[in-house]
Amino acid sequence: MKIIVIGGTGLIGSKLVNKLSEHGHEAVAAAPNTGVNTLTGEGLAEVLKGASVVVDVSNSPSWEDAAAMTFFETSTRNLLTYEASAGVRHHVALSVVGTYRLSESGYFRAKIAQEKLIKSGTIPYSIVHATQFFEFLKQIADISFDGKKVRLPDALFQPMAADDVASAAARIAMGPPVSGIVEIGGPEQFRLDELVRRRLTSLNDSREVIADSDARYSGARIAEQTLVPGKNAQLGETRFADWLESSASQPPSAKVPSAAAATATKGAGHDGR
Ligand SMILES: NC(=O)c1ccc[n+]([C@@H]2O[C@H](COP(=O)([O-])OP(=O)(O)OC[C@H]3O[C@@H](n4cnc5c(N)ncnc54)[C@H](OP(=O)(O)O)[C@@H]3O)[C@@H](O)[C@H]2O)c1
Repeated sequence: MKIIVIGGTGLIGSKLVNKLSEHGHEAVAAAPNTGVNTLTGEGLAEVLKGASVVVDVSNSPSWEDAAAMTFFETSTRNLLTYEASAGVRHHVALSVVGTYRLSESGYFRAKIAQEKLIKSGTIPYSIVHATQFFEFLKQIADISFDGKKVRLPDALFQPMAADDVASAAARIAMGPPVSGIVEIGGPEQFRLDELVRRRLTSLNDSREVIADSDARYSGARIAEQTLVPGKNAQLGETRFADWLESSASQPPSAKVPSAAAATATKGAGHDGR
């Protein structure tokens, strides 16, 4: 099958392109630096010619509320329109476990808007809800840093390796549309503050992580179970300690858009995913 990976140069996208190719598919990475821009529509008609499946693992370059909303609404509308013209049979999108419980956050309102467009569209779809990536732990610290300390609720947390996210997304992209949401998560549960503290220690980052029940996650109040998937979630294999060991010599690869970093240092923490 010809499978287009929107955001195919990103953290998840680049792994996904490799995995789909290993399965013998013609996987094409689509992103602005490969000549495809979902915001403007540039390159979409060309890249979608002959494609059976589109997997959207793109992300907004800015996590500021309005920018994220514009990105996910405009990109998704463009994608669905061009996919219908090209005869695409399956649209897969990557979103986040608990998205509907996080609507206090502008970023998550944008993800909800993305999902609503997909559900009300004409292309058969699968929406993958993943928990936070291990690779994202440092960025969680960054968006939760008030200039002195990293403040996080001690809610339950079940993150997973980006590699396992890509494997699950590949499996779902190669299967039939589920017309609903598939939840995926990590094999172990932790406390959010505890795991971010462990990650910072491993990076020799001296910022202190404080458990603070009033602190927000990406601008949203969260409860004990907000970030954890349901009992039917498909779980990745990679355990945190093993991932930490194997990534010890590598810098974290997930990106922090400038708006998020700027907001975080002001302590507002309204951006993130
Ligand atoms: N972080 C988490 O823990 C987490 C958890 C669950 C779900 N998710 C979801 O996972 C998805 C992917 O995250 P990620 O960390 O892999 O993202 P990422 O590494 O930041 O990659 C984003 C990709 O989107 C592309 N992109 C940006 N603007 C575009 C445009 N106008 N047209 C086409 N492509 C564009 C980027 O291309 P360039 O590099 O050329 O800009 C890049 O390939 C997001 O939708 C996020 O909501 C994240």
